[in-house]
Formats: sequence, C-alpha cells, structure tokens
Amino acid sequence: MTDHQHEQQKTRIYFTGQCEGLPELREALSAHDDLEVVGWSDHVAQATGVLAGGHLDCVVHGTRMETFPATEVAAIREQTRAPIVIVASGGATALLEGALEADVADVLLLPQLVENVVFTIRKAAHAKRGVPTVTRAQLGRVVTVFSPKGGTGKTVTASNLAAALAKQGKKTLLLDLDLQFGDAAIVMGLEPDKTIYDLVVAPGELDIEKLAGYTAKHTTGLDVLPAPLRPEDAELVTESKITRLLEVARECYETIIVDTSPFFHGPMLATLDRTDELLIICGLDVPTLKNVKLALQTLELLSFPASRIKFVLNRANTKVGLNKREVESALRATMIAEVPSDRAVPVSVNRGTPAVISDPGSDFSKAMTSLAKSILPPESKKAQRKRLSLARA
Ligand SMILES: Nc1ncnc2c1ncn2[C@@H]1O[C@H](COP(=O)(O)OP(=O)(O)OP(=O)(O)O)[C@@H](O)[C@H]1O
Ligand SMILES: [Mg+2]
Repeated sequence: MTDHQHEQQKTRIYFTGQCEGLPELREALSAHDDLEVVGWSDHVAQATGVLAGGHLDCVVHGTRMETFPATEVAAIREQTRAPIVIVASGGATALLEGALEADVADVLLLPQLVENVVFTIRKAAHAKRGVPTVTRAQLGRVVTVFSPKGGTGKTVTASNLAAALAKQGKKTLLLDLDLQFGDAAIVMGLEPDKTIYDLVVAPGELDIEKLAGYTAKHTTGLDVLPAPLRPEDAELVTESKITRLLEVARECYETIIVDTSPFFHGPMLATLDRTDELLIICGLDVPTLKNVKLALQTLELLSFPASRIKFVLNRANTKVGLNKREVESALRATMIAEVPSDRAVPVSVNRGTPAVISDPGSDFSKAMTSLAKSILPPESKKAQRKRLSLARA
C-alpha cells in the first residue's frame, strides 16, 4: 500500500490536556498504523485553530481532574464536533459518573493496552459517521472489474464472479458503475424498479438500511444495485455519493463486485480509492493492449498500488495472431486467469442468467468459479468473529 492510500484510511486524532501516562500513550499511538496523530496541545485554548479546521476524526483529552472536566469538554465542543475520548489515570473513577451524561464518546483510565485505546478511538470515529462499529479486518472487499476498452467482457466477468461468490454463500453486492450504459441488471435477468440514481437522490444520509431498500435480489442471494435507467441521470451519481456508498456497502457485504465503464471519470476515481483488488480485463488484440498500457500509466500517476492490480485474459483461446505470452511480456505482468471464449456466454447473456448458474459445467463457468476463489482471502466467518471479539476484549 502506498503512503497516499494508507493515509486515507487512517483515523486522524488530536491530543489535548495532560495526565499521567499520556506522553507515553501519545508516542505509542503516533507509531500505530491505523492512526494519524495530527498534533497535541496541553491547553485546549492553544489548540483552537487545529480543532476547528483539522478535519479530525477524534480528540483525545487527558485530564488530571478527579471529576469530569466539563469546562474543557465544552471548550473543545466550541471548536469541533469530532468525538471526544477522555483519558485519565487509574484512580479517577469519579470521573466516569459525569461522563455518562456528557457529550463524550468514551472514558479510558490509564494504563491501557495500546490496542484497546486504538479500538476505542476507531469505534468513536466510526460512530460519528453513523455506522455500526466493525474492525477494518471485518470490512468487505471491493473488487473492481475494469478495462479501458469497451466490449472486452467487464460485465460478463463482474456478473458471473458476483453470482459465483453468492453461490458459494458469500454475502455479495454487484454494483453497476457503468453509469450511462450499465447492463448488469439485464445480464442478471432482473427488471429493477429502483437504481443507484433513486438511491442518491433520496433524501437523508445513506446507511445500511437505506441501501437495502434500493438493491434488487437475485435468486442466488446476490444483491444488485443497478445503473441509472437513463444516461442523463448518471451525472447525479457523484464522487462523494460513491465514496459513501462503498463505505456503507463494506460494512454489510463480504464482497462488493463493481462493474465499470472504460473511463477514468470522477466516480471511477472515487471507486479506485476504495478498491482492494482491481481486475483488468485484457484481450488478445492490439488496441486493447495499447489502452491497457495507457491505463496502467494513469493508475501509476494516481498512486494506485500495483500490488492490487490483477490481470485477466478474456477469450484467451482465440487464435488471432497474438498469444498470452506476448500480452504478458508487453504488459510485464502475468495473467491470474485465462477465460476461454465460449458459446455459453452469449447464450446466457440473452437468457438473462449468468453462465455460472445456467451452465456451470461450461469451460467459461469453470474459469469464473476458480477466479472467484482466487480473489478472496480465505477467511471464514468464524475467524472474523473471533478476531472481532478479541478486538472488543
Ligand atoms: N469469454 C467470452 N466468450 C464468449 N463471449 C464473450 C466472452 N466474453 C464476453 N463475451 C461477449 O462479448 C460481449 C461484450 O461483453 P461485455 O458486455 O461483458 O463487455 P464489457 O466490457 O462490459 O462492454 P462495455 O464496455 O460495452 O460495457 C457480450 O455480448 C458477451 O456475450
Ligand atoms: Mg459492460
């Protein structure tokens, strides 16, 4: 992960006040990967500028008082709505009483394990955004299917991958971000009455319940959020809407498969910021190869981590004077999957049922099923629960 990417996921914190053990804690938190310590100030009054304008996710306030530091908290509140976590040294149990009524996210009596403090801070920062608290390890993975050329097989790959994952029992969302001409719903045989357009124009903040009201359910259990029905509605699906949508989707799905258009427009850049794995669909033709190379240069300029890019060769078995080895050496990359050209694909598209469902024995479906297995880290639900309960302990 590049610094740029990492920075975006860090929880930004600021320290105010003083108490025994706070300098040590500050040092430990400064070194922690999940946090960015923006700064500190022994007196709230000295910190007004940064509190007001620092885009903080959390303020950690240390106090030597035995009782709840109401004046200090009020002074912080004058500057920022960021959640406040109070830290005090062990004996200050009387402080807890005042805190129950007050506008603070949590109180910690030191000493504490650093991981406990990090968990409390991240929990406070998440609560501010109005979503349930989960650890980063528990968040769903965003797998974006992209190709800089039209017709290379993005939609059939995205829809079959999503259906294959749902069939394996994974809670999966297929998100159609080919905003002008998306056809993921048609390929899945769905006739949705709501789309991403209706979701983004609906009043109120997006949360898990709201998202659930706009997805269409496929018989495999897969949820689909279709593209707008009219191309002109695409422009209302802005970068910030996509960012929020992906944040919410990661809270409630194990995998989010994103179908895209062949362009690096704003919504695509917002998607890349949240993408864990980028599948680039290549073909055995020179124009596609040329465009893939250009796309890789753009991704590098955007500081998109190369480690997250995977290449898939579609229609790999066609004899057209260019072979897989030549494509790999031109791109200086290896293909993680070779997907054959298969009659089962257009047949399934016209029938409105993904080939992995209607024709699982076809060569295409076998390639998709094994691709679906390879893109997921093999973490079971049980392992996730265990990890979460450890984090809460
Ligand atoms: N492996 C394959 N075997 C046979 N046909 C295929 C294969 N992959 C894709 N196709 C066919 O090629 C056509 C284009 O595929 P698809 O719609 O997935 O491309 P796309 O990259 O999403 O295109 P667009 O950029 O227009 O959205 C489809 O009609 C599909 O049936
Ligand atoms: Mg498509």
